[in-house]
Formats: sequence, structure tokens, C-alpha cells
Amino acid sequence: KIIVLDFGSQYNQLITRRIREFGVFSELLSHRITASEIKEMAPKGIIFSGGPNSVYGEGAFDIDPEIFELGIPILGICYGMQLITHKLGGQVDVAGTAGNREYGQSNLTHTKDSILFSGTPEEQVVLMSHGDAVTEIPNGFVTTGTSHDCPFAAIENVERNIYGIQFHPEVRHSQYGNDILKNFAFNICQAEANWSMGNFIDLEIAKIREKVGDRKVLLGLSGGVDSSVVGVLLQKAIGDQLTSIFVDHGLLRKGEAEQVMETLGGKFGLNIIKVDAQKRFLDKLAGVSDPEKKRKIIGNEFVYLFDDEATKLDGVDFLAQGTLYTDVIESGTETAQTIKSHHNVGGLPEDMQFQLIEPLNTLFKDEVRELGTALGMPDEIVWRQPFPGPGLGIRVIGDITEEKLEIVRESDAILREEIAKAGLERDVWQYFTVLPGFRSVGVMGDGRTYDYTVGIRAITSIDGMTADFARFDWDLLQKISVRIVNEVAHVNRIVYDITSKPPATVEWE
Ligand code: XMP
Repeated sequence: KIIVLDFGSQYNQLITRRIREFGVFSELLSHRITASEIKEMAPKGIIFSGGPNSVYGEGAFDIDPEIFELGIPILGICYGMQLITHKLGGQVDVAGTAGNREYGQSNLTHTKDSILFSGTPEEQVVLMSHGDAVTEIPNGFVTTGTSHDCPFAAIENVERNIYGIQFHPEVRHSQYGNDILKNFAFNICQAEANWSMGNFIDLEIAKIREKVGDRKVLLGLSGGVDSSVVGVLLQKAIGDQLTSIFVDHGLLRKGEAEQVMETLGGKFGLNIIKVDAQKRFLDKLAGVSDPEKKRKIIGNEFVYLFDDEATKLDGVDFLAQGTLYTDVIESGTETAQTIKSHHNVGGLPEDMQFQLIEPLNTLFKDEVRELGTALGMPDEIVWRQPFPGPGLGIRVIGDITEEKLEIVRESDAILREEIAKAGLERDVWQYFTVLPGFRSVGVMGDGRTYDYTVGIRAITSIDGMTADFARFDWDLLQKISVRIVNEVAHVNRIVYDITSKPPATVEWE
């Protein structure tokens, strides 16, 4: 495998993902990892990611210098290259002082043959995004590429197998980025392309078995793709040491509880305990309108509830969750900023009793779908649209009441039905209704109404990190609008959300 050390760029999992796409296992690890920990892992190569710091800055992310002595090939990208330079005795110039800033596409010219660039043209477009730049390379290094504003755009020390590039090969804007990463993986690290989702399954099963031993695991099953895939994976790994708990928190979509029990409990034979906790959740949420508070309450309540159920079960040590990489990065990591607290990450209470098992936390959504299919799961589950853990609780904006939940639940069911009828389920990544909670004036029959507005949110996306609003046909939208207003009590107006992410997020809270 090839490991990527995390220096804080929001998109650094893209590097691991590209490498996995080549058939080589790759994972992102903290930059705090020590040389001896890496030695034990014996990766074929190490990549230092980009990041927002300046190498001379206070609290700048550092690296164990012994890593350079391991003899494992290293590739530094952007900040990673500056760090290599700094640690090995070169010079980095801080933003602006030498006029080195460069943001956007730029032309890279090779100045010397390099394995890293083999098979790519002398001149190529790359994406630069840096304030600081290398001004003096360390002893033993040579320059292999320059750009207009960057005399040291690519450097290497072939003897020590250390390479640095100032641009970002992981993004598509770098024309030959993939070839460069491939050269690193196969020609420099000599990695073998022998990894696939099948290996991931074997690897994870082995890891889970080792971690769990003969102890018991509790899974929070939401019925969504992620926790369902975790359930089936764990079932394969540890069989009846797994108990799944499915909480009906009163914030589920219409028909959801029945469907989960039938498919996962019935067909896949998971041992599921269904807990009816509608009242418990709604009582705790009564009168609370702050989105982060709502998320935290729901997250905490989930775990307390598991705690209760686990006590009844006797001897449960682990809690399994379907946390994805995108949940981890957006909740803020050691190096990345918090965007919003996903309930299953930021919402965990500090006095939690369990150890966590999160087998999907390095994967993107589309990779989880691939995994589900590899596990033999049917399309109805694998291609279900994502549904957030806090459920309809974050789709009723502001404080939650039974009446408001009913409006979201019914309008959402109509929307889903119409999307299915139009055959658009796979084209649209996620679609749902929200209740902004304000009322406006309408006219129905001959009478004035003063009722709620329902918002429709529908997006296309690859991984939920970025999204675009779905370009629906007007006639379809009209049909949905008419049905919701006619069939759902207390609704007299429908609006369609036409913002992308960023600047908006997918959910409204
Ligand atoms: P946002 O709103 O952050 O949503 O742009 C991105 C994707 O994540 C889902 N989402 C969540 N999933 N727990 C989850 O499991 C959460 O707390 C949560 N919040 C948002 C959202 O539905 C979208 O698919």
C-alpha cells in the first residue's frame, strides 16, 4: 500500500482515492505518525499531502525526520514539497516576499528527465495553488521542472528516492496528474495493482475479527446505504456476535421502518432489535431550534439509547457505525476545519462507553456503493439515496413538532414517488423536502389560506462534498407541486432550491 500523510488540505483524500483507483491500497494517516510506526506498516511509498500552513509558521504541521531515513520512496505535494525542502536543508520563501504566489492553471516545463514524468509531454498544464515557494533546494536534489512563476516546480533526489512537486496532481486540472501519480506508484514505489473492493472486504473482515475477538458488537442501523453495508459486512465477519439496533426516533421517512425490517432483518438475516423511541426523542427536542443543538441532541440520544440496550444485552464492547470519509472531514479533523457536525462524529458524548468500529471511514459514497454490490446486496439498498442520521429532524427547520414532521414526511413521500415514476432515481443523487417553518398567504377555492411553505431540494453529486441542484423538467416540478399542495394539509406554497454546494450545503441545517 501507499500511505498519504495528512497536512490539512480539504481534498487530500482525493490522493488516496486516485491511488485506490489504480488498484493499489491507499489510506490517509496523521502527519504525527512516527517513523517506527511506518516501518511496521511497511508501505511501498509515502505521500505528503498539501496543506494551508507555512513551514515556518507557528504550529506548522511537522514530520518525524526519521521518516526520510526509512528508504521508502517519498513524494511531497505542495506543502509536502516545502516541508521536505525545509527539513532537508533547503529554503522556502514565505508568501509574497519573492513574488512567488501562483494560483490556478500554469505551464510546467521539464528541465531534466525524471521517472516521475515519464510518458508525459515536455510541457503540460498543472494546477498550482500556493503562496509560499521553494527558493533553494536541499543538497543532493536536482530540479526537474519549472513554471513561469516557480523555478522549482519539481525536484528530486533519485538516490534517496525523494520527490517533490509544487502542483497538485490529484485534481483533474493537472492534465497528466494521474500519469504522474501512476509513475510514482508503479515505477518508483514498485507497487502492484492487486487491490480491489474484494480485497477491501477481506482486509476489513480480518481487521474486524482481530479487533473484536469473541466480544460483541452493536450496530446502529439507520436503514441507509452506509449502515446497511456495515451490517452486512459485520454479519460476514462476526456472524451472531453482531446485534443491530434500529431506532425509530420518529424522524424517519414514510414506510422506512417497515422496509428496513423486511429487507435487512428478513432477507439478510441480521438480528435486529427495533426500538420505538419516538417520544423520547421528540421530548428532548421540544422547543429546540438551533441546528447544531438539534444535531447534538439526536446524536447523544442515539448513543445513550445504545448504551441502555447494550446493558440489557450484556457484554457489548463495540459500537459500529457507517461513518464515511466525508462525515469525518466535514466535522473537522485534527487538520481540517469544521463545516457542520455530522451526528455520528461530532455528536458523540464524551462519556461514551464503547469503542468504535467504523469500517467505511476512509471511503467515499460511491466506493461504499461499490462495496455493497461486491457484498451481494441488491440495488434497492445500494442505490438508496443518502439519508442523514438526524433524519427529518434537520429537515424541519427550527423547532420540531409532530405536525411539522407529518408535513415533511408526506411531502417527501410524494416527491419520492414522482421521481421514481419519472425514472430519475439514479440520475439525482439526493432529493427531499424541507419545511422552512414560515407561513404565507394563499387562496384556495374562494378562501384565504395562511399556511406553510415546503421547499424541494434535489441535487446531483459524486460524493456529497460538492453538489449541483438538479435541473428538473418544469412539468415534473409542477406535478409535484400540485400534488403536495393538494394532498398535504397546511401547505399552500412550494419553492425549489437552486443553490449548489458550496456555497449552500445539501441539507438546510
Ligand atoms: P451537507 O448538508 O453536509 O450534506 O452538505 C452532505 C451529505 O451528508 C448528509 N448528511 C449527513 N449524514 N449524518 C449523516 O449520516 C449527518 O449528520 C448528516 N448531515 C448531512 C446529507 O444528507 C448529504 O447527503
